Order: sequence, then structure tokens, then C-alpha cells
Amino acid sequence: MNIKKYRIGNPFTTEATVIDIPIERELPRYICAEDSKISIKLPLENEDIIYGLGEQMGGINKRGRKYKSFCSDDPFHTEDKEALYGAHNFFVVSGKEKTGCFIDFPGLIHWDMGFEKTDEIFISVEGDSADIYIIEGGSEQEIIKEFRILIGKSYIPPMWAFGYQQSRWSYPNKETVNRIIEGYEQAGIPLDTVYLDIDYMDNYKDFTINEKSFPDFKNYVKELKSKGIRLIPIIDAGIKCEKGFDVYEEGVSNNYFCKDRNGNDFKAAVWPGICCFPDYLKPEARKWFGHKFLSLTDMGIEGFWIDMNEPAIFFSQEGFDSAVEAVKAYNGEDLDCWKYFEYRDKFSKLSNSTNDYKNMYHLEGKINHYNVHNLYGYMMTRGVSESLPKNTLLFSRASYIGSHRYGGIWTGDNFSWWSHILLNLRMLPSLNMCGYIYTGADCGGFNGNASRELLLRWLQLSVFTPLLRNHSSIGTRNQEAFAFENPQDFRDVIQVRYRLIPYLYNLAKNCAENAEMMFKPLGFEYEDKLSKECDDQVLLGDEIMIAPIYSQNKTGRMVYLPEEMTFYKLSGNRVSYKEKMNKGLHHIVVELNEVPLFVRKGKKVPLSETAKNVDSLDTTVSEYLEG
Ligand code: GLC
Repeated sequence: MNIKKYRIGNPFTTEATVIDIPIERELPRYICAEDSKISIKLPLENEDIIYGLGEQMGGINKRGRKYKSFCSDDPFHTEDKEALYGAHNFFVVSGKEKTGCFIDFPGLIHWDMGFEKTDEIFISVEGDSADIYIIEGGSEQEIIKEFRILIGKSYIPPMWAFGYQQSRWSYPNKETVNRIIEGYEQAGIPLDTVYLDIDYMDNYKDFTINEKSFPDFKNYVKELKSKGIRLIPIIDAGIKCEKGFDVYEEGVSNNYFCKDRNGNDFKAAVWPGICCFPDYLKPEARKWFGHKFLSLTDMGIEGFWIDMNEPAIFFSQEGFDSAVEAVKAYNGEDLDCWKYFEYRDKFSKLSNSTNDYKNMYHLEGKINHYNVHNLYGYMMTRGVSESLPKNTLLFSRASYIGSHRYGGIWTGDNFSWWSHILLNLRMLPSLNMCGYIYTGADCGGFNGNASRELLLRWLQLSVFTPLLRNHSSIGTRNQEAFAFENPQDFRDVIQVRYRLIPYLYNLAKNCAENAEMMFKPLGFEYEDKLSKECDDQVLLGDEIMIAPIYSQNKTGRMVYLPEEMTFYKLSGNRVSYKEKMNKGLHHIVVELNEVPLFVRKGKKVPLSETAKNVDSLDTTVSEYLEG
């Protein structure tokens, strides 16, 4: 391996890596450790491209922006955001020379990727201890492969989890779930799972089921399974503080919860009201929490999504009380606009506050949460995964490199915005670089109202992503595929997914096995300038290039072909169009009920016959798309 490891101070063990690398004796000149901070300065040449950082805003090339590593519950993925739910501290600088860098540090990192100084990367780590890995030489893909081997094999769920999945916050009862399944059946649109968001629980208490809305849950799970539908419940990170609630009582009596600075259980509000937070960094606590899932797997549940594990905090009692106290001072004051903003912020800034994270402690008060913040979702995922039966579907919202071995991730609360289709596409390669293969965005957008056209265009991308889940928020319009006019168009697109499942599933498994990427930037395979700069097309496996339409009121788009390829459009069980195209720029037209893709010269993509769900899919090849 061509990896150098530098250790500064005495880092907290994150278990992000699985291979021991000897520590270099001397730090290189570009790493500086001073005044309890670590900084790294790397020069940038004009042609250098920065790939990586996993779940972040920005383009495929991360240059010219600032980012932060600090897992954040932020539902507004606007262009200016510097941190989302994951902390993925790996990037590759690619120009004449190619260098990979991974900073194994579980707290806050600031990344200036050529923003203040256009010819310099400046990284500052908020702490005095970290492991820094530098990988040099070879191509981008070779560097990434070394890194992926270092961090261990990616999680891949069973094949049914590659089917089309329907979710919403929330389907509150059995009748609604049945109506959704019927809607899909009647429209002839394939479906594999229905998600249960927080309302299936009793008062949002983890591991409870509201008996009124979901009576005889075990039999219901069984009944749906016999129709080929799996129910996927959500589990949140916090446990409701309620006397008599067994999970809470067990957590208190066994000392499984995080503490505050006075040594009491740390308490803050999330969906259920005031909660305690299991100390997932403590092996016995994460095991205990993980084993709680077995009450649901015993009832036939085969998959889970775990959420609010940054951890998201709406407010702490302490924060709330001090805000109430502080606003009293404004009473009777003549508020000018600045005073009014100050007043308003006393409450609007209560959520996910640094003060609260600094008042939270792990491992019997020994470790301050703020310094290891990015491990919380990772260690929750780990505890759950280690307790679940093999072949259970699991994915999380928060993550840190290492959690990719235990589960997938979804990319959180996006919007029904056209720009978020493009964001979804751009994140795929960077997530793959950081180990996340089973991943996808809320197709159709979580917040906001999706138009029929937006959902169809989004699906034309999502049919290629391992996690294909339509999820939307409470208060938004119904976003199920059958809920729009002419549902046969949705059927035509979603059926294509089922034709591709054997290919996609094998590809995902091979990528996990061989530490390879499923989605790659064009610049990894082609040397010309247009490929290097291409930000709205990606390669899938070694065979396919995808170029989805991501703008409204368009019948087509321009596509750049870096070599000769064959352009296909698929619709339902048919190949609706085929054309050999030369290298260069082309305008393609794609109907709403078609899926466009390009097959590389000399390559073959196997297709199966479509099916109504994965259980009934015949995985034998029915035809090949040839490039
Ligand atoms: C969070 C999740 C979202 C979920 C909601 C309610 O916002 O990201 O997916 O629907 O919580 O549980």
C-alpha cells in the first residue's frame, strides 16, 4: 500500500480504518500542529480538481468553496450550506500529480478548498489530535481503491432493497398503508416496500407500536409479506424520558445514556419531547440498543431506517429556560430591527446548538460530545447492525467514515427542487469514494410539492441509484407515483428499474467486494477537458454513462460523449430507441416515460424482464444493450 499515516497527539479511536499502518516519524511540512489546533496547507495548481468529501453541497469538483465536517440536521440544502448530515473527511486532489488525504478526526473540521486563496487548500482541525493519511501516486481510482481497502468493505443490503420503495411522513395507520399498496397495484406500478415514519409508534417512543393504528402488527407484517411488500419502520436516536417506559427505565438504571456536565442524564427535546440519548460510544449501551430491534425483527420486520442521529436536538431544557429568561429583558423595550432579530434568535438558534453539544458527555463523563460529535450516528448504526440478523436492510441519516461497513445512508431532507436532482447526481461519486454504495436521495424531494414532471425526471435518475425511495414530508402534496395524472408513465419508468436490478445489484456487490466505485466522474476515465469539467453526467460501472434531465419544461438536453457510445431509451419492458453516437456534443430528446442511458463502446448491459417486485423477478438475462 502506498499510504502514509501521520499521528498528531493522542487521537480518539474512531475505528474508521481496518488496517494497521505504521506511523511515520516526522510530519511533512504541510501539516502543522500548534496551539491545540492542526492545520494542513496544500498547494493547488490551476488544473487541479478536488474530488470527494462525500455528502456535501457543491459540484463534483469541490474546489472554490468552504465546507465543514460536523454532522448537521439541516433541512435546507441551499447552495451556501457547508455541512449536511455526514462527515466524510476524504478527498483527492487531481492534476499532474494526484494525492489522496483522509483526516481521521471525529470533531469539527473546516475545509477551505481554494476559497480564500485560489491556489491553496487550507484545512483546520478543531483539536490537537488526529490521524492523517496521505495516499500518493497512481490514478484517482487507484488512490480511492487504496483508501477503500483501508476503511473496509461497504455494506450492501439484500436484493429486495434494490426494488422501488415508497415512503412518507407519515402513513399513520394500516388503512393508509393498504390504500398506498392498492394504489400501486391498480396502476400496475411495481413496489417492494412501504415505510413507516414516526407515527406508527406510540407517542414517538422507539420500539413501541401504536396498537390502535396498527393492531396485530405481527400478522399485518406477515400479510403484507405474502403480497411481496415489506414494511420498513423508522427508529430515532433519542429515547423518550417517561417513567414506566421500559426502554427509558433500562437506560437509566444501566447508565446507558449520555451525561451532562453535572453527571446527570443529558436531556433534550426531539419528536417525543424530552429525550435521553443512548451513549452509542459505550459498547454495552450500543449492544443494548441494537438488541431492542429484535422485538421488531421477531415480528417479521426485515429493514430499518435510523434517524435524528447527528444527534438532532430541537432544544434542551437548559437552552429553553435561558432563552425564556433572556427574552424577558426585551419586555417593554423599544425594539429596533437589530434588537428584534436578537430577540427572535434567542429561540430560532436553540436547535442543534454548540452549547448543548458541549454539555453532553460520553463514556461516564470522560469524553465531551462536541469533540467526537461525528461519531454518534456511526456508532448507532454500528450497534444496530451488529445486533440485527444478517441480510437486514439498514440505512442511517448521520454518518462518519466507518459506518459504511454497517449500513447505507440516505441524503436527508432535500426539497422538490430541480437543482436537487442535480445535487443527487453529483453526490453519488463522492459518496462512493467514501465507502457509501447503498445510498440515494429522497426521490421527488422531501420538502415542498413535487410536480408530476419533476418526479418523473427525478425517477429517470433514481432508477440507477441503489436506494430508490420516494419520500416526502408531512404537509406536502401526495407524491406517490400513482397519485399523479397518467400513472402509466410512472409505471413505464419504474418498470425499467426492475429490468436493471440484477445488473445494479451485482455491480453494487462487486464494487463493495473490490473497493471500487459504482458511480464515477467522467474525468476518472477520460483525459479531455470537457470530461474533466463535466458536472451533470456520470459513469455507472464500466458500461454505462447517465445524463438525466434536471430542468423544468425541457424535452431534452445536451450531452457530451467522450467517446463513441450507443444511446438507448428504455420504457416499460421495451427498448424504445437506439442510436449509435459519435464522440462529441449531442442534443437528446427524452419523453417523460423513458429512461435515457448510454452504453460504452464494446460493453454490454444485461436486462431482465420487468417484474412487480423483486421476489417475483426472474434474474435471467432477457436481452443485452450493446455499446
Ligand atoms: C426527519 C427525517 C425525515 C423524516 C422526519 C420525520 O426530518 O430526515 O426523513 O420523515 O424526520 O420522522
